Amino acid sequence: MIDTSIVPADESSIAEAARLIRIGKLVAFPTETVYGLGADATQEDAVARIFAAKGRPHFNPLIVHVPNVTTARRYGVLNDRAEAVAAAFWPGALTLVVPRATDSGLSHLVSAGLDTVALRVPDHPIGHALLKAAERPIAAPSANRSGAVSPTTARHVFQSLPTAADGGPTLILDDGPCRVGLESTVVDCTTDTVTLLRPGGVTAEDIANIVGSLTEGDDRTSSPRSPGMLESHYAPTTPLRLDANTAEDGAVLIGFGPAVSCRLNLSPTGDLIEAAANLFALLHTADAEGHTCIAVMPIPDHGLGRAINDRLRRAAHR
Ligand code: TXA
Ligand code: MG
Repeated sequence: MIDTSIVPADESSIAEAARLIRIGKLVAFPTETVYGLGADATQEDAVARIFAAKGRPHFNPLIVHVPNVTTARRYGVLNDRAEAVAAAFWPGALTLVVPRATDSGLSHLVSAGLDTVALRVPDHPIGHALLKAAERPIAAPSANRSGAVSPTTARHVFQSLPTAADGGPTLILDDGPCRVGLESTVVDCTTDTVTLLRPGGVTAEDIANIVGSLTEGDDRTSSPRSPGMLESHYAPTTPLRLDANTAEDGAVLIGFGPAVSCRLNLSPTGDLIEAAANLFALLHTADAEGHTCIAVMPIPDHGLGRAINDRLRRAAHR
């Protein structure tokens, strides 16, 4: 299959979608909130392709979809509050940000390098069937180009995203319009209090009724003026030097492209999708090694290179 196809969701198209997810392709699928652009959340390069397809100039962490709360516990650590809201609203339009489980096997890029993960159990027969058939956690932001409105029909998805030949979804599972039509509510469950990060399909009042009280967040994950400007983005503790061609004494060089031979190379072939897939893992590695400085070679500023450079600039200017 070369180009994107929109197919009615049925047993055989769901099986095909599951197969595509497992081999690292992108598949758009319906949930009760909006259509999602899905990829295997354990494959770093598949997740990188989501950002490329959306044309996102930033690495915002993505929601990881799972079929039930038992599976959610494999990837995240749910405290008592998280368990309570999960029991009350899953499956449904609620996303929980929780600490990543040790050895979760999840991509680092899916969390934008953070040690937390956003988890959701969607309430949709097709989404659910796909998660069961794929047997993988599925990372999925809304299936639209960055900056465009969220898609509530398969046609919206097709109109908004590039076709498969240009890095878009291989398959779009069509199951008509989404019931809720509004993204999920995102709450932070990493501390003793539950904090609202993004209003959505489940109301703040309903959540407060379950957990006693809900802290209103500063909306920093959803501000339309600054999508992706999440303040809690991962940043290495080691200082960064950008546009470097060599590493000074005590520094380590993170390379890009075939011209250099260095131990840490974002992509020896100069492929930006591969570089995005390796970015957070290499930054973590370099940081943990305890150098005086992390020197990073220039990255071309187009395609995913823009998101990589945005991330590097923020990590360098702290
Ligand atoms: O309804 C929805 O939530 C749809 C469907 C497809 O499930 N998905 C969706 O995903 O809207 P996305 O990527 O467009 O929005 C994810 C939101 C962003 O505001 C992001 O910043 C926040 O969740 N988020 C994800 N991981 C996070 C984390 N580890 N910490 C804080 N916020 C996180
Ligand atoms: Mg969105």
